[in-house]
Amino acid sequence: MSAVVVVGAQWGDEGKGKTIDYLAEQADVVVRYQGGNNAGHTVVVDGLEYKLHLIPSGILYQDKLCVLGNGMVIDPQVLLQEMAYLKERGISVDNLRISDRAHLIFPYHRILDELFEEERGEKKIGTTKRGIGPAYVDKSARTGLRVGDLQNPGRFSEALRASVETKNHLLEQVYRRPPLDVDTMIEEYLGYGARLEQYIADTSLLVNVALDEGKGVLFEGAQGTMLDIDHGTYPYVTSSHPTAGGACIGAGVGPTRLDQVIGVAKAYTTRVGDGPFPTELTGPIGAAIQEKGNEYGTTTGRPRRCGWLDALVLRYTLRVSGLTGLVLTKLDTLAGLDSVRICTAYRVQGQVITEFPSDLDLLEGCEPVYEDLPGWTEDAAEARDYDSLPPELKGFIERVEGLIGVPVVMASLGRQRQETILREPIFPERRRP
Ligand code: GDP
Ligand code: IMO
Ligand code: MG
Repeated sequence: MSAVVVVGAQWGDEGKGKTIDYLAEQADVVVRYQGGNNAGHTVVVDGLEYKLHLIPSGILYQDKLCVLGNGMVIDPQVLLQEMAYLKERGISVDNLRISDRAHLIFPYHRILDELFEEERGEKKIGTTKRGIGPAYVDKSARTGLRVGDLQNPGRFSEALRASVETKNHLLEQVYRRPPLDVDTMIEEYLGYGARLEQYIADTSLLVNVALDEGKGVLFEGAQGTMLDIDHGTYPYVTSSHPTAGGACIGAGVGPTRLDQVIGVAKAYTTRVGDGPFPTELTGPIGAAIQEKGNEYGTTTGRPRRCGWLDALVLRYTLRVSGLTGLVLTKLDTLAGLDSVRICTAYRVQGQVITEFPSDLDLLEGCEPVYEDLPGWTEDAAEARDYDSLPPELKGFIERVEGLIGVPVVMASLGRQRQETILREPIFPERRRP
């Protein structure tokens, strides 16, 4: 068992960063396979907080190869800032590798992200405005520029000139905005290219060789299932594939190489940005969870909407990503409540449904059907092994297992690395050549 995909099982911010950091100790390689700096992964080690947006959360161990895969969209300025941020904290980035096939984010992507959102008005998605969607649009339209292009200044300059010409036309003629200066942009980006040169590689090859050698590889999902462009609450989604299949495409590995898929879910649900959210709590309990769980976005600082755990969402993730296990985080945040709820079905148009619907109008009309469970006390967070947990908390975890149908392999009871209970080893055996 050596290739493990970690995916967000809800709408992002489930604690993937913490989970990856914990599991990375057993791994040799950690690979991000989609998204860009719309992600914000927080890791807390020895009381120090690290906020990562592009670099895999394995970077805090000095001996892990950390890969930015081909499925990502990379803003090189942000990447260089993040590398500097880590170096200032004594973390080496020598083991970083960036796919030559990953796409680049340019200033016009960020500008268009804002303009498209403005244009949507009431129906805005609530994007992070980092240019993610427009960069993936260019990738699909086959007009994007890739990291590898930075290594060929002539080809890069020619392609960027063509792209900026089209974008300036759009900016000036449609949006009445000033044009962008392509010469400045070429100079700026070739400068980034020179600084990143030593890290650029054919990362699919690196990852496949690591797997051939029996090394442990972790694939770090960003965002979550419900934000997947195909499987999420479209159009209130991101423009990539956070689901497990995305790991194959976005890292360049075949599905036959993956051994396990671990979904990460909070003990409740949060969502940052717009779009339907059936178990949302708009009253005092939601506000209390938001406060206690410090539910403010890592990337944009926006408050996260909070609600009860939704078993339909988790079962849906199980289905589309083929989960083999679940990690439950932030169990400490719910401590102290008399009772907690899990949504087990939706009531809609006079019917009870148990599968997450694709039609947003139908979803908007869904009323959650809840099961109530007894709450657990604050001191539950002190436990470091499963048997020491209070029976109510074990009851909650085991009920989730019963509702979803996969084991809860890890329980997280705080932000720190050691505030974690691993119930089953994720890398039980390493394939050796
Ligand atoms: P990610 O995007 O999935 O990596 O999640 P984020 O890092 O954006 O958000 C999760 C937040 O919850 C971070 O601030 C983490 O430090 C924090 N966190 C993770 N696990 C736990 C936990 O079990 N308990 C508490 N209280 N905080 C946690
Ligand atoms: P991590 O990896 C939570 C949301 C945005 C918006 C939608 C589209 O930290 O879990 P985008 O900028 O991607 O076009 O925005 O997706 N979103 C996230 N929400 N966690 C994230 O990442 C997110 N990345 C994007 O809020 O609703
Ligand atoms: Mg996050």
